[in-house]
Amino acid sequence: MKYAVPRGTKDILPDDTPLWQFIEDTCRETFGLFNYREIRTPIFEATDVFTRSIGYTTDIVKKEMYTFPDRKGRSLTLRPEATASVVRAGLENNLITPDNLLKVYYLGPMFRYERPQAGRQRQFHQAGVEAFGSADPALDAEMIQLSVKLFERLGLKELEVDINSVGCKKCQPAYREALKKYFESNLANLCGDCRQRFELNPLRILDCKEAHCRKYIEQAPAMVDHLDAECKAHFSQVVGWLDHLLVKYKINDRLVRGLDYYTRTAFEIVSKQLGAQNAVCGGGRYDDLVEEMGGKSVPAIGFAAGLERVVEILKAESRQSKIENRIGLFIATIGDEARQVGFHLLTKAREKGISADIDFQGKSLKAQMKAADRLGARYVYIIGDDELKNKSAVLKNMGTAEQKEVSFGELLSVFVK
Ligand code: HAM
Repeated sequence: MKYAVPRGTKDILPDDTPLWQFIEDTCRETFGLFNYREIRTPIFEATDVFTRSIGYTTDIVKKEMYTFPDRKGRSLTLRPEATASVVRAGLENNLITPDNLLKVYYLGPMFRYERPQAGRQRQFHQAGVEAFGSADPALDAEMIQLSVKLFERLGLKELEVDINSVGCKKCQPAYREALKKYFESNLANLCGDCRQRFELNPLRILDCKEAHCRKYIEQAPAMVDHLDAECKAHFSQVVGWLDHLLVKYKINDRLVRGLDYYTRTAFEIVSKQLGAQNAVCGGGRYDDLVEEMGGKSVPAIGFAAGLERVVEILKAESRQSKIENRIGLFIATIGDEARQVGFHLLTKAREKGISADIDFQGKSLKAQMKAADRLGARYVYIIGDDELKNKSAVLKNMGTAEQKEVSFGELLSVFVK
């Protein structure tokens, strides 16, 4: 074969798109239930939009961004995530202000130059929400509830909600020092990346997936023990609200996120049905980001779900077969005249909102019936010479194999959509 899809990307083929559409529809519906409205931002942004917000020491900025100069030499980057883009768009359009509670959602492709593996691609899709204008712990809990409800409605089971507080600008420095002190004595045992993280941002070490680093990470001091009074109070109220909303969760004091903008609440939902890349969604508060990106001080929180991972789980559960690609009616014809009449009926069916099709490959009747079956047609209407004379033909229910004579005039009225 001459051409191949770029490494780390996938074609989503027609057999799979019904499942994707089901997932996307469920996301839109669920976000709508919680009063989020859609926002669409460009696939690429000025590189600066991402570098500062996501953080210079993160893997995303250091090695995963698709960055390129445009023809005028401006540095652009394919979005590795959408939070920074949404903040940029919200500020530019004056939607993010201290008094406005803005709730928005998005769906779309993101790009990260990562090593591809199951559940990890270079182009992947996220559905995410962002809420601006409130530091209320009830909003944190509502957002976690929303993510849980979303996966419930998608039919995912065996999920675990992990939450943590990563503190704020005021309490993080002391925690960083505590981590430095702890890791200093084990530095030689950590991987090369972690030794670098130690210098640049020791919090990032907690995110390392290397097995031998994990051993030391397990024993590291916990952020929850270093929170200042306000962050502690905020976290305990989030937990209180989650209890009130009957959302099950686990406090995971090792949870840090792969992006630098988080403050206070951080959360992830992991699935037991996935391998190493087991997070179906991740998010948290980012109360400083709006100000860092040039706005006023406006607290915010959000999360994004990885849709490839949802697809993987639903496929494993063979949910896909329930969401088949079906058409309502296939019109099988024998001879040119029958085909002309068939086309007329086809047009009428479509005008009535019935998805319908006809043969375009000069197939025999038998082959047309096979094609109709492959398409998942619910009914086939078979027109030959006799049928033309009588202006009536057999309508076959492909599910039950039941056949009945239906006149051309009556076809659409008896037809069950
Ligand atoms: P994130 O944790 O980097 O957060 O990504 C969110 C989700 O996207 C992950 O849990 C995972 O399901 C999926 N994901 C990430 N990278 C890949 C990949 N290479 N291949 C397949 N799926 C992937 C964010 O992106 C934040 N913007 C979330 C957020 C919104 N925080 C606040 N608001």
